[in-house]
Amino acid sequence: MCYAIPGKIESIQEKTVVVDYFGEKRKAHNELEGLSVGDYIYAQGGFAIQKIPLDEAKSILAVWKETFFELQEVDLQLSRLDLNPGSVSQEFLKILDKAVEGRELTRQELLVLIKEKDKTALKLLFKSANFLRQKHHKNSCCVHGIIEISNYCHSACSFCGISGENKNITRYRMSQEEILEAAKVAIQEHGFKTLVLQSGQDCGYSIEELAQIIRQIKTNWPALIFISFGEVGLDNLKILYDAGARGLLLRFETSNPELYQQVNPGKELASRIAHLKKAYELGYLIITGGLIGLPGQSQEDLLNDILLAKELHAEMYSFGPFISHPQTPLANHPSALAETVLKVIALARIIDVVQAKILVTTALETLDPESRREALLSGANSVMLNVTPLKYRPLYNLYPWRAHESESIRDQINDTIGLLMSLGRSPTDLSI
Ligand code: 5AD
Repeated sequence: MCYAIPGKIESIQEKTVVVDYFGEKRKAHNELEGLSVGDYIYAQGGFAIQKIPLDEAKSILAVWKETFFELQEVDLQLSRLDLNPGSVSQEFLKILDKAVEGRELTRQELLVLIKEKDKTALKLLFKSANFLRQKHHKNSCCVHGIIEISNYCHSACSFCGISGENKNITRYRMSQEEILEAAKVAIQEHGFKTLVLQSGQDCGYSIEELAQIIRQIKTNWPALIFISFGEVGLDNLKILYDAGARGLLLRFETSNPELYQQVNPGKELASRIAHLKKAYELGYLIITGGLIGLPGQSQEDLLNDILLAKELHAEMYSFGPFISHPQTPLANHPSALAETVLKVIALARIIDVVQAKILVTTALETLDPESRREALLSGANSVMLNVTPLKYRPLYNLYPWRAHESESIRDQINDTIGLLMSLGRSPTDLSI
């Protein structure tokens, strides 16, 4: 965990620094030159990313100090666990008790949770997940920015509106200058500390071009960079890491190999998993997960998806609902229910209680604008704002009516900060 507030370096041992945030100590990997004990830094995802001049740090901290503790108090109040069991079955309550105590649940118990339909029982499940989130992660909430640099794609995923098979959309590829400008606006103007660069598969940049873009962002502005360009090839992962990328966002979509092949014709789940494993070995932070509501997907599949994300060392879980797109082969398959997504989020929190950051996806917000708040109260502690230039956003048409498609970055930030403050959460990677 790290906050978008300056942390003071307490000690340095080789490449590891210990940072103090108002008494909370956190470790970060340091790749910055010339840091000393007593310096102030911003750290993200466990990486030190920027040294902050002493005066600046002190004035930011003076503003933050009171707010920080006030927010923690609000969060604590909201995450109190006063479970009112009502008509909920004893079996369900016993399993939740065990989860709240931090004991590992059996597969059978996890299946009971994921199969539950009763609204009162689900409310208890969501509350328990929120309690665990507060206990282990306090009130930090990641706010990453994402730039969708190109919607060209050579894959044929049957769920996806930007699949290469969809001949009815306008394709775009941002120029290097446009990408750098968008990164500059996000980092310098709006204070983002973590950026995801995303595109379709084989989107038309060479690996050297992608490496150069990452290098230039890293040289000019301090930020943690995640790549999300599909399967770039195992060797290319190393090239992009060396260029400065430190995170990979790549969903495996489903852990069921047959279902994977059905919805990704000509592709193998094993190849995707090999990328995720290689990236982890190279030192990338991993964001992964899947689509909820694919045709024929069972509750067991969903549980396996969460377990696979854990096995792949996800530092952030990204599970979102399938939303049907009229220009795809799955046009007639119904979109997922928001409630199923909340269940997966709550279960992910219970399964990976200590490590997991859990994202509220834009797709969930698209299904139901209220669900961002609900997800944050069901175990999630992460959001991603769209910082793609407005003229390109509607073209990145993964599914129709995407939330925030025409909302300025400033409006998204104000809205998000308002929501986080109302829930007592501190944004970790956005200066405010
Ligand atoms: N509904 C929801 N999410 C989708 N994605 C692609 N198409 C859809 C859709 N119809 C998601 C995939 C992909 C990510 C970039 O967008 O999970 O990994």
